[in-house]
Parts: sequence; structure tokens; C-alpha cells
Amino acid sequence: MKSTQKLREPLENREGRLYFDCVSTSELAAKFDTPLYVISESRIRDNYRRLHKALTRYYGKIRVLYAAKANSNLSVLKILATEGAHLDAVSPGEVSMALKAGFPPERILFTGTSVRNDELKFLADAKITVNVDSLSQLERLLKIATPAVLSVRVNPEIGAGHHDHCITAGKSTKFGLWENDALVAYRQARKAGVKRFGIHMHIGSGILPVEPFVLALEKLLEIAKRVRDELGVSFEFVDMGGGLGVPYKPEDKELDLNAFAENVLSLFKQKIAEYNLGEPFFCVEPGRYLVCDACILLTAVNTVKTTPFKKFVGVDAGFNTLIRPAMYGSYHHILVANKLDAEDAETYDVVGPICESGDVLAKDRRLPKIQEGDLLAVLNAGAYGYAMSSQYNARPRAAEVLVKNGKYALVRRRETLDDLLAAQQMAEWLQ
Ligand code: LLP
Repeated sequence: MKSTQKLREPLENREGRLYFDCVSTSELAAKFDTPLYVISESRIRDNYRRLHKALTRYYGKIRVLYAAKANSNLSVLKILATEGAHLDAVSPGEVSMALKAGFPPERILFTGTSVRNDELKFLADAKITVNVDSLSQLERLLKIATPAVLSVRVNPEIGAGHHDHCITAGKSTKFGLWENDALVAYRQARKAGVKRFGIHMHIGSGILPVEPFVLALEKLLEIAKRVRDELGVSFEFVDMGGGLGVPYKPEDKELDLNAFAENVLSLFKQKIAEYNLGEPFFCVEPGRYLVCDACILLTAVNTVKTTPFKKFVGVDAGFNTLIRPAMYGSYHHILVANKLDAEDAETYDVVGPICESGDVLAKDRRLPKIQEGDLLAVLNAGAYGYAMSSQYNARPRAAEVLVKNGKYALVRRRETLDDLLAAQQMAEWLQ
């Protein structure tokens, strides 16, 4: 079997070499060095349009909010801003970057947790709608300003996700307000003079089946009905959060987008009619779905090493560059970008330069015979890839290149040794 069997767009095999959005990965590695994140503009636009279209087939008032935490490169934000996306931000930093990339404040929803008072002040000044995560946060926000619109993040008691760390609803999570507290929150906000409202949930991340979304949405809408019936609050939007999964393994099935849209929106339409909820916007908040497969990580092989038990391929990207395999045990498919036509011949652990045994990008992976100098492409690196990278082991962070139908541009330069020192200063007594 070849590891390249199923190449999904914009991956392409041209005479055994990997192209991404019509650009040669070998050329990019030669020009910009490795490790290198390569982002496809075409794929981001396709992903956004496919999702938006699937949803608008079933309901007219749709908003797709991009969860900026997945990938906050300014070019990625700009691409989605020009598509008409809204944005989910979790920090003043994400808000600032989104504003800089062209998102107007009214298209940004802030869903933070453990939010500080100075951050609430920043959001109030920037006229950003806040989706509150606790009664404490609401009380502190209302002391700073009376927001024009307010949303409450509810815990719908049903969570899901690809790893425990990524389940954000249910009994053990810190996120959201439970039903009775949500009622208290809306009552307090009304009393303080807030007039326009939304309601929100986010149950987790990396979810491929449709069922958890449907069950959780059902609960969210029951809570919305209680809020409406008991307090007379009507909702401008109902936000079902993100979490839409993507296939990482070759055998994984894609999320059935049409079934997702149909199931979720037929329930939504039925319940808003039955509960007299008017015609609120229906919002989804995907990060991964929009950017994950729109980016690959290129990394060069510098070491091939055999022990009595294992064969290791040492590359220049470690968990400082892509932490998902180390942090969640996540699978990322790997192609040998300069040997796409070679048969799989060996079983390797692909490891990075970090001095920890957990620095593994792939374990027991069947790959063609690898030599020093080969170029590997780690797929599905666009979501929570660069965004979670670090300078651990004093390694400067990677560069990012944007590609679009044969064109390319550097969109984030590689960090240098000076960047490692930029924020540090020596204590006076050590000088
Ligand atoms: N909305 C809220 C409030 C969120 O907390 C998140 C993700 C999203 C939307 C977007 O979720 P997505 O559609 O991307 O699944 N680092 C982990 C994922 C953590 C997600 C955190 N919250 C990973 O690499 O799998």
C-alpha cells in the first residue's frame, strides 16, 4: 500500500512529488526552510462556502463564526472576513487581531472563561458582544457597562469530543452556566437594562457523529424556552458552538454535512416554532472544520536511527511545532513529499528535536524507506497547529506561507534567536 492512496484536495501528486494548492512543496521547503506551515487559501474558502451553503439550504438566517483559536494568522482571518464570516474570540488578543484583519466589532462574539475586569473593560470599549461564562463575570461586566447585546453560554449537560481535554459540556467541565444559573443571568441582565440577547453552547471539539449536537441543541432550546416563558426574553441568535470534526486517518469518514445540517436545522425550526422563539439567527462556531485540512506542516528528515527495537525518523518539527500528537495522542497522516509514488516499506516512529520521549509526531507508522534529506508533509495541521506551538527547548517558532492556485507568499517569518531573547532582561544585580 502507498501512504498516498487518498489525496484530498488541494493535495496533489505530480510525478511523485507533493503539490499543495498547485505549489510544489519541495520548492517551498527550499525557499523558506523547514519546519514550515503551508496554508491553502482556496481550501479555506471552499470549506467556508460548503458549510454556509449546506446550512442555508435548510434555514435562511445563518451565521458561521470562525473560532479564531484554531489558527489566528492574520491572512487566515482576512480570508474569512472577506467571505462574510463572523468570529468567535476568546481573548483581547484575538479580538485585536480580528479587528485588524477587517472583522467589524458587530461580527465578533467574545466567549472567554476566567475573564479579568480589564479584559471586560476592553471589550466594552471595543463594543464587542460578550457571551458570559459565569455569574461572577456577568456581575463584573454589568458594573463596567450595560451591553447592547448579551449572550449566555449554557452548559447543555451533554458533552462530546475527540479527547477528555476537548469535552466542554457536562458534569466535569468548567464552562458555561447550568440551567438555573442561566435563568438568573438573563434576569439580572434584564434588570440592568440589557435589551437584546443571544444564547450559546459549545459541547466539545472533534465530533464526527451528528447525534451529540442534536441532543445538546434540544436541551439548549428547552432552556431558551424557559428563559422566554419566565422572563419574556427573546433571542436574536442561538449559537450551537463549534466542534465539527474532520477526518484525520485515511479510513475516517467525513462529517456528513448534509445530514448534519438537515438534522440540526429541522430540530431547530420545529422547536423555535413550538416554543414561540421567533426567528433567531442560527450560529455555528467552527474552528477546525474551516482550517484543519487547509494547512500542512513541512518538516525535513535529518536523522535515520535504528535501535534493537525501533526505527526512528528524526525531523526538525517536534511538539514545540505541533503539539497535538503529544498532548492528545492525535493521529496526523504523514506523506513523504518527495516520494509519493514509493511503496510503504518500513515501520517508523517519527520524532522531533525536543528532549522528551513524548516528542513523537507518529508512532509505528508505515512509510516508504526514508533517507536523510527527505521532506515529510504532516497533514491536517491547520487547526491548533501553529496556534499551540511554543519556543520550548529555545527553538524559534516556524514560518507560515500562504498558497493560492500556484502563487505563494510568506505570511509569518520564521522566528530567530533574537526573538527568543526579545522579551527578556537581566536582573540589575546580575549584570
Ligand atoms: N467555540 C468555542 C467556545 C470553543 O471553545 C471552541 C474550541 C470552538 C468554538 C471551536 O471548536 P472546533 O470547531 O475547532 O472544534 N486544541 C484542541 C481543540 C480545543 C478546542 C477548544 N475550543 C485540538 O487540537 O484538538
